[in-house]
Amino acid sequence: MTNTHRRDFTSVRPSKNWKEVYLDGSPEKEKQQHEIWAQEHAAIQKMVGQQIGTIMRGQHASPLHSVRVVLEPYDGLPEFARQGFLKEKKILTGTARFSTGSSVPEKDDSHPGVRGLAVALRGPDGPRQDFLTVNMSWFFKNTSEVMTIVRAQAAASKAPSAQSKSTMLEVTAKALGAERAQFLLDRIGNQLAKPVYSLAAEDYFGTMPIRWGPYAVKPCFLSLNPAGQPSPTSPTYLRDGLKARLREQELAFELCLQFYEDDQRTPIEDLTNPWQVDAVPVARLTMPRQDLDAPAGTSREQAAEELSFSPWNTHGHEPVGEIGRARKSIYGLSAKTRGACMHMTPQVD
Ligand code: HEM
Repeated sequence: MTNTHRRDFTSVRPSKNWKEVYLDGSPEKEKQQHEIWAQEHAAIQKMVGQQIGTIMRGQHASPLHSVRVVLEPYDGLPEFARQGFLKEKKILTGTARFSTGSSVPEKDDSHPGVRGLAVALRGPDGPRQDFLTVNMSWFFKNTSEVMTIVRAQAAASKAPSAQSKSTMLEVTAKALGAERAQFLLDRIGNQLAKPVYSLAAEDYFGTMPIRWGPYAVKPCFLSLNPAGQPSPTSPTYLRDGLKARLREQELAFELCLQFYEDDQRTPIEDLTNPWQVDAVPVARLTMPRQDLDAPAGTSREQAAEELSFSPWNTHGHEPVGEIGRARKSIYGLSAKTRGACMHMTPQVD
């Protein structure tokens, strides 16, 4: 296990000159569009729910495990990094939920999929702070593109399996043009083909900017844990691996930040490309040694399935950009549709 990522802030040139752009040039028109997409997304969530007999999360419906976490801010941070909960150097505690990105539960951990790490934190007397991250550093250009992929996946799931790939391409190309469709589907394919041997050894990225005082940052959790075994032996190898490691030892990630510097290297509105600046560590996320099969572990697991995680559970680190604003409507309705619990209960605190 390495102890830390490079704590060198000298290369960071944070700028306050970032700007958000609204869809159709107006916050009101954009909100209307986001609510339409939230309704459409929830309709697909219900349709999937009817197929599988229960309404689950609209995305990341497949849980891998939920664990107890502690976030400890580092000493000696430069002033520009010391914002929000880092300003008061508060230790936060809570729950992290590992998931697979699909909208149906997967029985086999080797099933291809993006892996999620959603963290819900709270200080002793402070408000809640969530971070939602995935094991890929890129995302889509805007919500319109995301909704195209969601529609294409829904259409592909209804097509005979031999035609599911061509259905995905057809629906995506019709909306985005052949070139962009092929680019995105190739990229998704490459991401899904990437084997994951251990949840603890992956790096997880927020991919979307959030407010950091007057700055905008992309947060990520970079692993400090050893690599996994490259030969999965059971369909629950990711869950078993996490359980086994946590029974013996603590696991740790570093909360790292990339700061907005300029529109070329760190664009706010188009999330297609990862930001081209260093990620600097500001806090340590520890998963203390714990028995996930003990009653406290299983009740945390159950409570985290019922809980709503959202980048809008925040106090000062609100999402920045069109995709971030869309997530307010979409996550709210997805949570309501599945009857999620909006507040942290003692089981996940
Ligand atoms: C417009 C873009 C997006 C849409 C439409 C979308 C949609 C959703 C929905 C509907 C849920 C389930 C919410 C619930 O029922 O509680 C969800 C969960 C999640 N999303 Fe997104 N999402 C988007 C962007 C992102 C981005 C940029 C990330 C990057 C990190 C992300 C990571 C996650 C994770 C990790 C979860 C699981 C949270 C949990 O464990 O409860 N999503 N997403």
